[in-house]
Amino acid sequence: MSATPLVARTRDELAEILSPARSGGRPVGLVPTMGALHEGHASLMRVAREHVADGALVVSIFVNPLQFGAGEDLDRYPRTLEADLKVCEREGVDVVFAPSVDEVYPGGEPQVTVEPGPLATVLEGSTRPGHFRGVLTVVAKLLGLVRPDVAVFGEKDYQQLVLIKRMVLDLNMPVTVVGAPTQREPDGLALSSRNRYLEDEPRQEAVALSRTLRAAQEVAEYGADVALDAARAELRRTTGVDLDYLALTDPELGDLPPDVPAGTEARILVAARVGGTRLIDNMPLTLGSAPDQRQEEL
Ligand code: PAF
Repeated sequence: MSATPLVARTRDELAEILSPARSGGRPVGLVPTMGALHEGHASLMRVAREHVADGALVVSIFVNPLQFGAGEDLDRYPRTLEADLKVCEREGVDVVFAPSVDEVYPGGEPQVTVEPGPLATVLEGSTRPGHFRGVLTVVAKLLGLVRPDVAVFGEKDYQQLVLIKRMVLDLNMPVTVVGAPTQREPDGLALSSRNRYLEDEPRQEAVALSRTLRAAQEVAEYGADVALDAARAELRRTTGVDLDYLALTDPELGDLPPDVPAGTEARILVAARVGGTRLIDNMPLTLGSAPDQRQEEL
């Protein structure tokens, strides 16, 4: 059985707990979270453990006010520290860093923040202004506080992952960022802390998001247009899903050029409200250029 993780509430406690690993030259891994941990987070912890072996595995739990807009779910965002500690214990986490808002933002809202650039204005950013500024600012702070060798983020929040990689590259941050695959319910719904808001009917309807993405994946060999048409057709068959966006991009979230060659890697992303809860999902696909004999069926 794993030992109970040590809990650090302040930066000083964190520094003290991590000092043996640092002085012993052992690697430090970080999985930043907002808590309400589920199997998706557990899988990130396992990926981080693979990277740090017998080094120190840190999970941060911090609901970051800076990344929530007015009218978003900051107040009702689930806070479940006791249950979260059990998940961390089960996964062999060494340290849980669970700071207060004052600890992370001692002077109140920071005057200096990370400017996420143009990528933060599309997709999620188009309906959530300021969201990625808040995400990148807190991630920069957590990286500064924990000073990990490796930090693991889920592909479920794909735009966030791309932006964090970009920040680390552009600002020369000394950390390796690793993306880990999305975990899913048996029916395909991507695991998310927000799934717990879904009541019975919206929970059934929410599976439409992954079905939409899979529909595109299944015909990706016929090219980008066919893949997008298939996704749109799948969405038309759904009820209870209020679409925000459906986009097919390159893996860095840029536009795909017309007539991409066979074998081009792409990403399909969707965001929608289901029963009042905003959900996002995405999947990779490899575009082909096979002759389309299915188009009339779609
Ligand atoms: O993905 C999340 O849970 C959050 O956006 C993160 C990366 C922990 C920053 O608050």
